[in-house]
Amino acid sequence: MTNLQTAVLDPHLHNSRFLRACRGESVDATPIWLMRQAGRYMPEYQAVRAGHTFLELCKNPELSAKVTLDAQRILGVDAAILFADLLPILETLGLKLEYLEGEGPRLSPPVRSAADVNRLTELDPKTSMPFVYDAIGLIRRELPRDIPLIGFAGAPFTLAAYAIEGESSRNFIHTKTLMYNDRGAWHALMGMLARVVSKYLHAQIDAGVQAVQLFDSWVGTLAPEDYREFVLPHSYAVLQSVKGRVPVIHFGVGTSTLLQFMAAAGGDVMGLDWHTPIALTREKFQFKAIQGNLDPIALFANREVLKRKAMQVLDDAGDTPGHIFNLGHGILPKTPVDNVKFLVDFVHESTRR
Ligand code: CP3
Repeated sequence: MTNLQTAVLDPHLHNSRFLRACRGESVDATPIWLMRQAGRYMPEYQAVRAGHTFLELCKNPELSAKVTLDAQRILGVDAAILFADLLPILETLGLKLEYLEGEGPRLSPPVRSAADVNRLTELDPKTSMPFVYDAIGLIRRELPRDIPLIGFAGAPFTLAAYAIEGESSRNFIHTKTLMYNDRGAWHALMGMLARVVSKYLHAQIDAGVQAVQLFDSWVGTLAPEDYREFVLPHSYAVLQSVKGRVPVIHFGVGTSTLLQFMAAAGGDVMGLDWHTPIALTREKFQFKAIQGNLDPIALFANREVLKRKAMQVLDDAGDTPGHIFNLGHGILPKTPVDNVKFLVDFVHESTRR
């Protein structure tokens, strides 16, 4: 954080558990929030969602604000996350976005060649996504004053993968084919994504979020050398651009072998999935703060197992300051809400200092 930002931040927020942990400072109890904490597993979300498509919800500041605030209040978590999605920013490139019931996102036409990249537009997300900043304003007004609000964006690779595949994918064949066969088109697309994502994050910070998370959800599909060559420079551009304004969480799944390069790309907090041991990783890469990393499926298990698995994460994180408890990936639909509340209370109670 720059001195300027520290000076203007409300002391209640500045000294919140979550922001203290992001800075690697000591806390009275380990902060916890959960990726996708507002979502289909929660009846209050389903009630709001019932009358609207998902995209309508994302573009309606009042409803998005309600969904964000409901989740924070119901769960008692230490941070709220903006209710939005990774993919609407791809509309600023001229792609059509739909969410098909039961099938997931669709982007069209998929970007598969240099000619397709050249046809993309590059609108400024500052003006093309006003609903996001309006939602941030509404949320910040209603959130308790010691609860930070997290903004977020997809990292260039994960967004490129959606733009190129046109949907979720297992093998990322089209993505890697473009990456390997046409470096020029690849770097042009990634450069464009890095520019719009940087502007988008700056605009969220201007609108009032206290931290941001860069989601590189699908980057685990890459070999380390491919990450270094094809992804690192672009994630670096985004992370360097917002560095020092607010703490930045850099997150991906399946990243154990990529962490060295992800660390080089930047971020104040490294988000780990459940394949990655906390203490060993921390020591090896000297991360000041770590977020993670309970297996989201542990929330489907009985309470004894859930407690044991949560304790394993806490033990692995140890007493070193700079741990934010989270899942190793987002909460899944059908997760029992009571178990999520139980986990939040358990983490607070068992780490009270
Ligand atoms: O964390 C939060 O509570 C904030 C909201 C949030 C959503 N998506 C809401 C959402 C966040 C941070 C995301 C990020 C996101 N979106 C990612 C990265 C997440 C990760 O865990 O790595 C990705 C890959 C997406 C793209 C996306 N959006 C997918 C693959 C889907 C699922 C499609 C499906 O039908 O299963 C979505 C939809 C989505 N995003 C929902 C929610 C609550 C469900 C929408 C609904 O049907 O109501």
